[in-house]
Amino acid sequence: MIKEAARVLTVAPIVIHVASEDDEIAGYKWRAGTPIGVSYEAIHKHTAYWKDPEAFRPERFLDESADEIKPRTFLPFGGTVRVCPGKIVAEKVIKTFLILLFWKFEVELCEPDKDIKYTYGMTNKCTELKVYLKARNIKE
Ligand code: HEM
Repeated sequence: MIKEAARVLTVAPIVIHVASEDDEIAGYKWRAGTPIGVSYEAIHKHTAYWKDPEAFRPERFLDESADEIKPRTFLPFGGTVRVCPGKIVAEKVIKTFLILLFWKFEVELCEPDKDIKYTYGMTNKCTELKVYLKARNIKE
């Protein structure tokens, strides 16, 4: 579920790097100082890599269907030498938060048919998501 959420609404949709020296990539010459943008969002929504890419289908990432996910097509934390150094801690914090939330509360969307509201400013940020929380009766 976390992976599919990161695919459908990519936190860092575009990342820009700058060539530190003259280079040649894919037959093109790139001068030092050229900004090169990589759209992780476009990769996450590309029909060549994902069936029905706009649909939220967490089962895409289940073990039995994982082999359908092509290498280097799921990059919420970027990749190679500039991969996000906070990846492991971010994944652990998100998992821990959701485990505690669903353990302590029943969670339901107030407006399940409405699209999520978010703004973009280098990263996508949720601005409103109304949920009902009902405390679970846990004996501790
Ligand atoms: C959901 C949480 C996070 C997401 C989705 C995320 C995603 C990303 C992405 C896509 C990049 C760019 C990779 C590239 O250049 O191709 C990046 C870079 C970076 N992230 Fe994160 N990040 C997250 C959390 C964190 C946390 C918790 C930290 C620090 C504790 C962190 C520190 C950094 C740093 C320092 C860079 C720059 C790395 C470099 O350019 O060498 N991130 N992150």
